[in-house]
Amino acid sequence: MKTEVAIIGAGPAGLLLGHLLRAEGIDCVVIERQTGDHVLSRIRAGVLESITVELMARLGLDARMRAEGLVHGGFNLADGERLIRIDVAELTGQTVLVYGQTELTRDLMDAAGPRGLEVVYGADDVALHAIDSDAPYVTYTCKGRARRIDAAIVVGCDGFHGPSRRAIPASAGRVFERVYPFGWLGILADVPPCNHELIYANHERGFALASMRSPTRSRYYIDVPLTERIEDWDDDRIWDELAVRLGPDAAAHITRGPALEKSIAPLRSFVFEPMRHGNLLLCGDAAHIVPPTGAKGLNLAASDIHYASAALIGWLRHGDRDAIAAYSDKALARVWKSERFSWSLTRLMHRFPEDGAFERRMQVAELDYIASSEAAQRAIAENYVGLPV
Ligand code: APR
Ligand code: PHB
Repeated sequence: MKTEVAIIGAGPAGLLLGHLLRAEGIDCVVIERQTGDHVLSRIRAGVLESITVELMARLGLDARMRAEGLVHGGFNLADGERLIRIDVAELTGQTVLVYGQTELTRDLMDAAGPRGLEVVYGADDVALHAIDSDAPYVTYTCKGRARRIDAAIVVGCDGFHGPSRRAIPASAGRVFERVYPFGWLGILADVPPCNHELIYANHERGFALASMRSPTRSRYYIDVPLTERIEDWDDDRIWDELAVRLGPDAAAHITRGPALEKSIAPLRSFVFEPMRHGNLLLCGDAAHIVPPTGAKGLNLAASDIHYASAALIGWLRHGDRDAIAAYSDKALARVWKSERFSWSLTRLMHRFPEDGAFERRMQVAELDYIASSEAAQRAIAENYVGLPV
């Protein structure tokens, strides 16, 4: 089989890119290891920056998110009993849209068939070949049959554990990584949120986050040591810990209910440079990971796709090969700014095992500064709503 662009991975990055290319009449195929149901079963963050909403709007796929998503003009930092509201609407003129990644992925998946976007699910043993040549190709097996897709270029949207980044010779790339000494235990429940906006809390017992999916479905997190096992956390223990860490006002409004899902995920900051090697581009989690503090993961994938789709259209429709050459530097410029914000907010809102009294004083001083400075709040707000692309 021949195509113009072979996309590996049918998560939000791969599907968004596939739709943007098809909208320009560019031939592409998305190759996904899992089933569509498995992809949709993943619970991920759901705070969308304007770039993510705008790309869906450009595709005419924003109707459901505008109908069901929640427009948020602010979020909160809690430090013990103090609640600092960051009024992002007032400070930046922008808002964020609370809409689950699962729902965004569903919108993209549902539109694939009607729009002629070919997605191969259940592709095993996906491998990249000749990415340094002008004739790269991808091989895989599906239903026991060996398949091959020849393309002009391959785009790795296959997440942190996919094969694309590993297809680049180690000598040609560089890894920057920080693994955090805790994980996030998340619980999803069909109960109303305790607050109409998000609350990130730094409590002496640890971090907590109150988030939501809708007015009737809440998503909460607490940080736990990496040695913790989810089997040791029954629902009541999680609700009890949330009530303490979020502070008395929030606790008074927490509605408890059975967990629809609960799990522990590790946190890391990770960047692979460059995000292009020959005729392979990397997008989204295939190239970078952020800690979820600040909800940048999906939005960074979207900005990568914004740059990658423009470069691919420029080359394949207008002969501008320079756009492909410029992709990595352009994408990385925004990646690093989001990495910094996510790392910084993680540092501010978590108690690190290695920290002492001085580091805690630094957190208190920074929160005092944020509480008293419009300039400090604006700096946080413009990162939270998303820096310009
Ligand atoms: N072959 C084919 N597909 C693969 C392979 C493989 N060997 N390995 C992984 N994949 C698929 C995964 O099954 C997944 O569907 O690639 C897709 C990658 O999707 P994501 O991990 O969601 O990454 P991305 O599309 O970049 O979206 C980033 O997703 O994980 C969250 O926090 C992250 O919100 C961020 C967003
Ligand atoms: C979520 O709603 O799952 C969420 C929100 C904000 C974050 C992380 C996760 O920073």
